[in-house]
Order: sequence, then structure tokens, then C-alpha cells
Amino acid sequence: MPTKNRASFGSRLGIIFASVGSAVGLGNIWRFPYETGQNGGGAFLLVYIICVLCFGFPLMMTEFFIGRHTRSNAVGAFRALTSKRGWRNLGYVGVLAAFLILGFYSVVSGWTLEYIWQALSGSLSGKTAEMFMADFEAFSGSIVRPILWLAIFLVITHLIIISGVRKGIEQSAKWMMPLLFLILIVLCIRSLTLPGAKEGLQFLFQPDFSKISSGVVLSALGQAFFSLSIGAACMITYSSYFTRETNIPKTALSVTLLDTMVAILAGIIIFPAVFNFGIAPTQGPNLVFVTLPNIFEQLPWGSVWAFFFFLLLALAALTSVISLHESVTAYVEEQYNLTRSRAALWVSGSVFALGIVASLSIGIWKAHTLFGLTLFDLLDYTTAKILMPLGSMLVCLFVGWLVDRKTLQDDLTNQGKIRMRLFPFFVVFLKYIAPIIIALIFLNEIGLF
Ligand code: TRP
Repeated sequence: MPTKNRASFGSRLGIIFASVGSAVGLGNIWRFPYETGQNGGGAFLLVYIICVLCFGFPLMMTEFFIGRHTRSNAVGAFRALTSKRGWRNLGYVGVLAAFLILGFYSVVSGWTLEYIWQALSGSLSGKTAEMFMADFEAFSGSIVRPILWLAIFLVITHLIIISGVRKGIEQSAKWMMPLLFLILIVLCIRSLTLPGAKEGLQFLFQPDFSKISSGVVLSALGQAFFSLSIGAACMITYSSYFTRETNIPKTALSVTLLDTMVAILAGIIIFPAVFNFGIAPTQGPNLVFVTLPNIFEQLPWGSVWAFFFFLLLALAALTSVISLHESVTAYVEEQYNLTRSRAALWVSGSVFALGIVASLSIGIWKAHTLFGLTLFDLLDYTTAKILMPLGSMLVCLFVGWLVDRKTLQDDLTNQGKIRMRLFPFFVVFLKYIAPIIIALIFLNEIGLF
């Protein structure tokens, strides 16, 4: 239900920074490079950009519409939009996805603090490649340290959340995002001046079309959703703090383009470095935590570069964790009528509990699996492959078929003030194109084809 004195963001820039903060995260700097590395480089980038523009951008506009129109948390939003049973509860899919993503995402976020610490204390220097690998596995599988970093990361998130939408989320994004861009540019320049830069750039930008397969397309679409924070209530929640004047198509486009730019810049940092030292780009999830520190250590001032890189990763992760946390907190706060700090405390506490189990599931509890997956992987799998695509598909159908066309058009165009010539096409996209394509991909991913 829309509440009377509901918070809102204070400025247009604040809106952009907060939304870009949600979108830019481990997805851009950790996941994008290793997905690109494993899926053939340039070809993957090309398919990825197509997915971002054709699916990510319109879906982001759709989530922005839902949030801004209802000015409510994700669960309340669908309740305000329809009285149809079943559809009323669609918001739960997103909030549940946000909570489950937090369970593993905040653990990985904690790892970034360990690496900042290691860079500062000098313990990254003088190691061989094998030592980096062994130390990463020993650390991520150990009991105390990852949980300690998880706790610290969650305390920081919690403090920002309880400071409120404007003073906490918006203000923190306003200084973290510029700092993030600055570090990104400095690291890019460092990487581009390495002798292997040309090969790395060729790998990233020269598409080898023979590498495009259905698997590559699926990975690219999944990566696009994840990177743009779509399908887990985040953009619905943040847009509920937009103002009536916010230009939704323009904001969605800016967020989409900035997020994609950061992913590409992260690629420009990582691939030249990888090729400079003759390392295979197909390492997978270890690329950033094992390969990169190893590379940095072979450069002059290695620990300084490593420090900045992991600071970049931590900042990016923090603004994303804040948005996931806020999606769940806004729901708990508004639907259960709690104070913000009470609600935030429940969320932080439960995420910490889930995070502990997720962290231990890749260490001492490795042997306990469900469907052959540890809890950590299970959280990743159920959110990325089931809840997010399924939720997004239902959201498209919902807005396409159940929301009155005029309401949608009025809201997206700010009562006709903004021109949107592609609106009729947008409706067709929501009604038919997006649900069918997402359904095909979904069935393919869970192996029904
Ligand atoms: N987009 C963020 C990243 O790239 C992660 C994230 C934040 C997210 N909120 C989300 C992913 C909502 C999916 C849904 O790291």
C-alpha cells in the first residue's frame, strides 16, 4: 500500500547513482569477465550487448513503471495493481529472489574485504600462481574468516540502510559511484599500457562468430538480467522512490548504458592483464580472485594495484547489496508495519544466518549437497536460472495483459510530456515477444528441451 510520508530520492543525479549502484556490482567486475572468458570473448560481448538493449532495457522500464506507479515495495506494488488472486502475490517471487541472492552475494562481497586486507598487509606479495590458488581455496573454505568478513560487510550495509533512503542509500551512492568510476579509469590506463594489451583487446572486441551457440546466447541473457538487477524486486523498489517528474525511459537507458560501460571497462582491465602474462582467459569464477592478484603481483607496485582493484570490487558489491537489502527491508517494513530499523535488523540477521550456511557449504559442509549442488551453488542456481527468469516472464505478462494500456502509457510518458513513439511495439514486446523468448530460454536451461 502506498504510505503517506513515503521516502523518495532527492535529485535526478541521486536517482541515477543509486540505480547504477544497484546494477553495477560483482556481476560486472567478477561475473562478466569470467563469462566472457568462458564463452568465447568478442562473440559473447556482441550477443550480450544485443540482450541488454533488446531485453534488459525494456524490462527495466517495466520494473520502473511498477515501482513508480504504485510507490510501494514489490509485494505491495502488485497488490495495488490487481485484485486477481495469484497475480496479487507476484511480488513475493522478487523479494524471495532478492533474499536468496543476498545469501551468496554477500559472502562473495565479504571475500573482497579479505583481499583488500591482504593487499594492505603485503601478504599478496611473493606468492606463486599455485600459492594463490591454494590460498584462495583455503580461505574461502575456512570457517571463521569468511564469516567475519561477511559480518563486517553486513554491518556496513545495515548502517547505511537504517540511515534512510535519502541520507543512507542516495548519499552513499553519490560518493561511492564517482570513486568507483575513478578507480576504474585508473586501472584501465594501467592495463592498456601493458605489452599484452593488444591481444587482450582483440579477444574482447573481435567477435569470432563460430563461437556463438545456444549456450552462449543463454549465458548472455542470464548475465544481462543479473547485471541490470532485473527480476529480483530491486528496480521496483528503487523506482518507488523516484518522483513523478523522473523520466523513466531516459533513466532506464542511462542505467543500462552505464552498467554496460562498466562491464566493458572491467573487461578492458582484466583481459590485457591476462594476456600479458599468457594466462588462459577461461578460468571461470576464480579469474578475479586467483588470476588477477597473481598478475598484479608481477607488476611494479603490485599490491597497490591489487588494493585499488579490490576496493573497486568492494564498492561495487556494497551498492548492490544495499539495493538487495532495501528490497527485502521495504517489504518487511511496509507489509508488517515495522519501523525501518526493526525491519532492517530482521533482514540483516536472516541474511547473516543464510550467509553463514552458504559460506560453510563450500567449506566444511562440502559433502552435504542437494541435487548435487552445495547450498552456495543452489542459491545461485535457483535465483539466476529459476526465480529471476520466471519472475520476469510473469511480470511481462502481467503488465502486458493485466495493466490498463492507458495507465501504462500515461505513466511512462509522464502524462504525455515525454514522446515514446515505440510504445505500441513495447506493448507487443511485453505481451508476446518477451514471455515467449524467456520461456524458451527457461525450458532450455532447466533441460526440458
Ligand atoms: N546487478 C548486480 C550486479 O551486477 C547484482 C544485483 C543487485 C542483482 N540487485 C539485483 C541481480 C537484483 C539480480 C537482481 O552485481
